[in-house]
Amino acid sequence: MNQWIDVLNNAGQNVLAEYFANAAPEIKEKLAAQFEQIDFAELPALIHDYVLNKPETAIPADLAPAPFFPYPAKNDEQKEYYAKAYKAGEDILSAGKAAALTVAGGQGTRLGFDGPKGTYPITPVLNKTLFQYFAEGILRVSEKYGKPLTWYIMTSEINDAATRRFFAANNYFGLAENQVFFFTQGFMPAVGYDGNLLRASADSLALSPNGHGGTLLALRKSGALDAMKNAGVEYISYFQVDNPLVPVADPLFIGLHALEKAQISCRMLPKTNPYEKLGNFCMSEGRCQIIEYSDMPNELAERRKEDGTLDFLAGSPAIHIISRDFVETLTADGKLKLPWHRADKKVPYMDQNGVEVKPEEPNAVKLESFIFDALPLAEKVMILEGCREEIFGPTKNKTGVDSAESCRAMLIDRDARRMEAAGIPVPRNAEGKVECILEISPRSVVDEADAIAFFKENPAPAPVPGSINFYGK
Ligand code: UTP
Repeated sequence: MNQWIDVLNNAGQNVLAEYFANAAPEIKEKLAAQFEQIDFAELPALIHDYVLNKPETAIPADLAPAPFFPYPAKNDEQKEYYAKAYKAGEDILSAGKAAALTVAGGQGTRLGFDGPKGTYPITPVLNKTLFQYFAEGILRVSEKYGKPLTWYIMTSEINDAATRRFFAANNYFGLAENQVFFFTQGFMPAVGYDGNLLRASADSLALSPNGHGGTLLALRKSGALDAMKNAGVEYISYFQVDNPLVPVADPLFIGLHALEKAQISCRMLPKTNPYEKLGNFCMSEGRCQIIEYSDMPNELAERRKEDGTLDFLAGSPAIHIISRDFVETLTADGKLKLPWHRADKKVPYMDQNGVEVKPEEPNAVKLESFIFDALPLAEKVMILEGCREEIFGPTKNKTGVDSAESCRAMLIDRDARRMEAAGIPVPRNAEGKVECILEISPRSVVDEADAIAFFKENPAPAPVPGSINFYGK
């Protein structure tokens, strides 16, 4: 146990070393279990580069916009190719070669909700939670393609137990228990501005999940990757827990990824303005990479083509298809070094006198890695445009931009469009805004074709203005 004192001192953590040396055996044991998971050899360099200094993101001189497949198709040839890709995606789903993966390990601080973000009620009529909404979409996709779609859910130490309890208490929302595979990501210790690791309590460091970039290694370490391989899964449909609009498995996206022989694929959204808070898809030296909105020089962000559209148009909604064998290769030796990103945070801690401190101002750095930093590691990346209203309603805040409120409105609008596609008029005001509340269960309908078939079998009268309506199982 006392070997940790040397390890800590060698890593420049003298304050913690002294605390540890004088701690009671049961405290030592708990801390040592956390130390086991920290790479103390790399820690001093990390603290030097990311905490004591602020790393600048280098913008490559040859930075260019990344090419993407437009959506919808622009010409007949493309239409034909997309039809072929859609069919390929359907075949992949029918053969059980795809799995869904939700990253749900985040802290959800902006939403300010007590509990895993996936347990947040989101639907406008029945108040179904994010997890239930996805679960029902997965049930429907499984039914549609005649093969159970397995759902991998990444949690973190802060919400793993609560997430598992939530699923058990809700009978996995009708999914078979073995259709849901939970796995837990790694953590990183918070580092105070003076370079010292912070303690959250007497026997625990202040830890936080290591970012969604932690997914790749966590897939390997948890055995999820092996489970996928044994089940014949080749493609992973990756999405974030706070975006209920995302298709859990989109045949076109999966099929195009396969036909293009990509290792990782991305949906892109045309940015609405140069400064929209989406990462920018770029190319440099033949490799695709994302430059965060905050790192993009204004001059590049604002640059326009002759037709007036933004040159760097493609923004990332964090929706991907990842080939399982790409993850296998990246993590083959049980290690994967993605760059770290610094976030300045208010981290509560216990000081040297045992007093709990709740800082009013940021006092520490949290380090996270991001999944999109795997893009430059891929030889082949495929990017497909997406229709924002159909696939992206991030629930970051309670109200305002990117909020539960805006997401609910988007869910209503999308269901309204699906009803109209099925020939059922929906009341709208002069500006075209839907004038009733609607919810269609994803257990019955996951796309427009489903909506048409569903309402053919279950004819429904046109909803009246001001009414509240629920359709489906
Ligand atoms: P965000 O970056 O929006 O973070 O995560 P968050 O934790 O949900 O919310 P804030 O920033 O604290 O308000 C985007 C997605 O990545 C997952 C989240 O659960 C969410 O689905 N994520 C994020 C992880 O799975 N692990 C992480 O370490 C970070």
